[in-house]
Amino acid sequence: MDKVLARLDAMKEVHLAELKTLLAFPSISTDPACVQAVRACGEHLRDQVRAMGFTDSVLHDTPGHPILTASWKGAPGAPTILLYGHYDVQPVDPLDLWRHPPFEAVLEGDRLVARGVADDKGQVFSHLKAMEALLKEEGALPVNVVLLLEGEEEIGSPNLGPFLEANKELLKADCAVISDTAMFAQGRPSITYGLKGLCYLELELEGPSHDLHSGSFGGPVVNPLNVMADLLSSLKDRQGRVAVEGFYDAVLPLSAEERAAFAALGYDEEGLKHSLAVEELAPEAGYTVLEHLWARPTCDVNGFVGGFTGEGAKTVLPAKASAKVSFRLVPHQTPDKVADLVEAHLRRLLPGGVRLTLTRHHAGKPALAPIDHPAVRAGMEALEKGFGTPAVYQREGGSIPIVAAFDEILGQKTVLMGFGLPDSRCHSPNENLSLENIYGGMRAALWFYRLLPQHMARA
Ligand code: BES
Ligand code: ZN
Repeated sequence: MDKVLARLDAMKEVHLAELKTLLAFPSISTDPACVQAVRACGEHLRDQVRAMGFTDSVLHDTPGHPILTASWKGAPGAPTILLYGHYDVQPVDPLDLWRHPPFEAVLEGDRLVARGVADDKGQVFSHLKAMEALLKEEGALPVNVVLLLEGEEEIGSPNLGPFLEANKELLKADCAVISDTAMFAQGRPSITYGLKGLCYLELELEGPSHDLHSGSFGGPVVNPLNVMADLLSSLKDRQGRVAVEGFYDAVLPLSAEERAAFAALGYDEEGLKHSLAVEELAPEAGYTVLEHLWARPTCDVNGFVGGFTGEGAKTVLPAKASAKVSFRLVPHQTPDKVADLVEAHLRRLLPGGVRLTLTRHHAGKPALAPIDHPAVRAGMEALEKGFGTPAVYQREGGSIPIVAAFDEILGQKTVLMGFGLPDSRCHSPNENLSLENIYGGMRAALWFYRLLPQHMARA
């Protein structure tokens, strides 16, 4: 009889109540009104982790939101893992589309609905409860653990890189472990071995000094909104390719083996269309939907504003226009180089009569992990044991910029063992996660700690 698994089973109700408490903090990192709530969430986790037996649990101040570190080093000779996660969340707008208040978690069938339940509080919680159960039942963990929980992942981790540089000794480990991704499908757990990078830009166009009558001035006076539409549409061609010169130069081509492995997963394109209520998908010419999502770079307009957007019609030639554009990158593209290429492209096409200001927001490098790493193999086996079904390998279109920094600054490879679901609605209203995955995540985390020492020893 496995006492730790039995404990996780017996504690389900208690754990659900505790998770609801964690989800109640409105820790929106981008919202200045939530600064105190982000800190309070960090303090809550610090206290939880301390009570579990992580005696050196510290909330570190940064120029932004605090970073929590804690460690448990009671397994001499065993490997050390750096367990990373984030306790900040995305904004909740549009609020009226939520079925319940976003910070009051509600169970609908098997799905717990709340902001952050999948991304990433619920996944962090699964790890913490697995460790707590081990410590309570066995008095020890099978591995040494360094915990690193940040409050700024959703705004691009601006203070975490410098923190890694300054705390290399504290964060020393044999590998990093992150549960902040999604499984391939419900009932099909996966290890994610590739993440996209990100280059996020804001374009502002200024034309005349003030809004004008569109009849008296329209035509010869250059309209910033018209120009913005031209510039934005110039970024992509009809084949779904990014039309910026040099953009694909650094792109690592997909190998035949990888394409075959993607195809063998039997991705449900019809299911995706159905769940999004769209009739067509438009992958890049020559690539499947999955290949485009996981291994080809993309460009998307995230927001586009200016001029009159109120009810009815107002004839006006607006003085300004702005747009937010993101590029998701693949190895070996870098955000700085892509931003330079895009800026050159835009300036080349920019007509006279308007001024362009370009602001560079988030920048994150893409990441690709070796799938034959012993920690990855331990993760595959742990997922199978935790969820009762074999795991698959996948890549991902989302970004976790710090993964590249773990490799570059700390020399650590990362295992991405995600417990989210493709329809968890991360960053959207009614974000949710199944209890099956929250509890399965606890079991998988437990098995990962147990199996890692054997896999590392074999390597
Ligand atoms: N958990 C996500 C990354 C993710 C998204 C993994 C979807 C798997 C599926 C992470 O919290 C996230 O949203 N990252 C941001 C990074 C950005 C703000 C720098 C992203 O990808 O937009
Ligand atoms: Zn996110």
